[in-house]
Parts: sequence; structure tokens; C-alpha cells
Amino acid sequence: MPAAVVVGAQWGDEGKGKVTDFLAQRADIVVRYQGGDNAGHTVVIDGKEYRLFLVPSGVLRAHTLCVLGNGMVIDPKVLVEEIDNLKAQGHPATNIRISHAAHLVMPYHRALDEADEERLGSKSIGTTKRGIGPAYLDKYSRCGVRMADLLDPGLFAAKVKANVEHKNEILSKIYSKPGFDSKQIIEEYLGFSEALSPYIQDTSVMINDALKQGKNVLFEGAQGTMLEIDHGTYPYVTSSYPTAGGACIGAGVGPTQIDCVIGVVKAYSSRVGNGPFPTELHDQMGDHIRERGHEYGTRTGRPRRVGWLDAVGLRMSVRVNSLSALAITRLDTLSGIPELKICTAYRLDGKITEDMPLSLADVERCEPIYEKLDGWEADEIVSATAYELLPTSVKRYVETIEALVGVEAKIFGIGQDRAHTIVKGHLAF
Ligand code: IMP
Repeated sequence: MPAAVVVGAQWGDEGKGKVTDFLAQRADIVVRYQGGDNAGHTVVIDGKEYRLFLVPSGVLRAHTLCVLGNGMVIDPKVLVEEIDNLKAQGHPATNIRISHAAHLVMPYHRALDEADEERLGSKSIGTTKRGIGPAYLDKYSRCGVRMADLLDPGLFAAKVKANVEHKNEILSKIYSKPGFDSKQIIEEYLGFSEALSPYIQDTSVMINDALKQGKNVLFEGAQGTMLEIDHGTYPYVTSSYPTAGGACIGAGVGPTQIDCVIGVVKAYSSRVGNGPFPTELHDQMGDHIRERGHEYGTRTGRPRRVGWLDAVGLRMSVRVNSLSALAITRLDTLSGIPELKICTAYRLDGKITEDMPLSLADVERCEPIYEKLDGWEADEIVSATAYELLPTSVKRYVETIEALVGVEAKIFGIGQDRAHTIVKGHLAF
């Protein structure tokens, strides 16, 4: 006790990295349980910026073990680069562990991701093109290559050969794209194997042993609930389970082990990629928030779509994740805006709905109903060191969210640095 899950409550980029890094001070182990290098976390410590794609944010705390769980899909080239970068920045990176059952993202996955987005044209998902969907497709087709295979060069070579033969046919016959040379891939990947094999183990055993010993374990989701394959805005979603349930599957622990679930929510909304976004701002206010919040994808550099906070989506997140508490980030980004809005419900064909409509086409047609609130000034917020010291308008904004979704907010982000984090009351973790 305790084990906590940190999930994105919106469309990703909520600031999970910062919240995980903050909570990691109490954690013995931080586990990432899904996704791959489609995610990008930026953590700022003493003004120094760290960009992480695969390794959990806890890696920056030397006493915390950081696990890449079985639910992840890992591009070993990106991981080796990330570990090298950490070492170059003075972090020994000896606190990393990789699940033997995590799947590998292969060069042909990236090619297939790109080719399929091209085929879809104006209907494309807007993926990060890191090969995530095709890697999960192979996992569920039961032909994927796993971390453990890297430890057995003969088996690894056989699996890659079979896959390359099959993928080359698809690439040439369906997409008219060039194929791959399996020998080259085998050679390159066995090189990564040398660098990664010391980290590979059955991490489920390790995590469960730690829980038995009463250690603190933090499960870190990537992306967000509304990008989840089942509960998100399908098909404009990622291919994994960023929700709290995904932590059990993607780390190899049972649900009774989880003590609390923290939903990270940005004080407004953002989304990269295509798909419905009822509160999206297409005006100057949208541009203002994007620029002020540096809302450009960490992974792809794409400008993020931004909009007001959406309590309809957030209620869905509360429900499917059983959220115990909220962490509201980026309150500072909204500073200086005289009037803020929160979407409380949607209007669809003249009727008011407080839940997400069933069909995507209906979500696209929804008109948000807003509650208007007073804003606050930047200098009123950055210097606050406790929740009680925040301006009344910030507290009213927070209380409105809490009342709309029925969950208390306990963590607040009021600036980019690790130090700009405020806690309200007692944290179960
Ligand atoms: P994929 O995960 O690359 O297949 O992309 C599927 C959808 O998820 C696209 O809309 C991406 O923009 C979005 N997505 C994937 N990873 C992230 C993330 O870390 N933050 C925000 N959006 C993401």
C-alpha cells in the first residue's frame, strides 16, 4: 500500500509527466503500462528541460525504479537513444527495468502506419506515425516480436524473417511501397539487444513482490481517456488502454491492488490529431491559449487544437477510471483571460445531454453549453505556495469543476517547474 494510477482524463498532454514526477518523490517504483514513443513528456527541474518518450518520468529521481511494462510497444532505437541522452545529462539510468513481454516497434510498423494514414487521406486518424497501431495489430494477430525475443538471437531472426516476408507483400501489393531487408533489421536490432538486455526481466513478478512488501507503486498512463480504444472517440483514438484498467493488464497486477486513481486534467482542453472536439476554439482565444501554453505536440511538433474545459468528457473519464482525485494542471496558462468558460452539457437537436452521445457523428454535431466564470491575473497565481493562497476566482473555477464531475481536485499545476505544484488536503498516495 498504496498503489496509485495516474491517468490522462482528456485527450492526452494533460501534464501527466509533471504530476508523475511530483508523486514519484513518494514512489519506490513508477510503471508505464501502455503506448510507446507516441507519447512525450516534458519535465522541467530547476529550469532544465527533460524530454521523455518511453521511460517514465520517475527516472529523474535516482531512488525510484522505472518500469516499461508489458502493455507497452517499444521502439528499441528510441529507447537506446533516450537512455544515452539521460546518461549524457548526468542521470546514470541504472534505475530502468523493461518487461520481457513488451512488444517491439519494428521499422515496418512505422512504414505501415505512414502508408495507411496516406491511404485514408482526409479521413486519416492523424497518428504520430511512430508505428503504434501496426505494432498493437501484430500483438493481437499473435505475430508480434517481444523484448524477450531479443535475448534469443535465433528465435528473433526467425520471427523477423517471417514478419518481413508478410509485411513486404502488404507494403508492395496494397500500398505500392518499398519493402524491408530482414538481414539489416536483425543486425540492427541485435545491436540494441546488447544495450537493453541488462534491463529486461519479468517486471510483473518484481512489481507484485514490491507491493507485497508494502512499497509505493505509481502506474503512469500515456495519452488520455478520450483516446482510449474502447471508451474514446473511436476511430480517432490510439490503439491501447490509457485508462486505469489498462494499468492492471499492462503491468501484470490485479485490480484489487490499486488503491487510488488520479485523473490529470488540464484547466482547458487540447487535442492533437483528428476527431470530434465539441469545445474547440477556432478564434483568437484559441490562438492565445495555444501560444501562451506552448501547445505544440512534444512528439510531432504539430500545433494542438485547443478549447474550453469539457465537463461532459471529464464525467466520462471519472466513470470509466473510477477517479479518486483530480490533478488540475496549467491553471497559469489561463491567467489574464477576463472571462473563462466551462462546458457543462451539450445541446443536440434541441435536447440537453450530460453524457457523450453514442455516435461519433452526433458528437460532431453537439453544441456546448457553457458556464461563465471570472478569470485571474498571472501575478496572483505564480507566487501562491498553498491552495488557500490562490485567488478566489481560481478556487471558484476549481470548485465548479469539482461540482460538475463529483470528484475533488487535490493537485494543482500553477507553472512549468517541479516547484510550481500545490497540494490541497491529504493525498492518499
Ligand atoms: P497513434 O497513437 O500514433 O496511433 O495516434 C492516434 C491518435 O492519438 C492521434 O490522434 C494522435 O495524435 C493521438 N496521440 C497519440 N499519442 C498522443 C499523446 O501522447 N498525446 C496526445 N495525443 C496523442
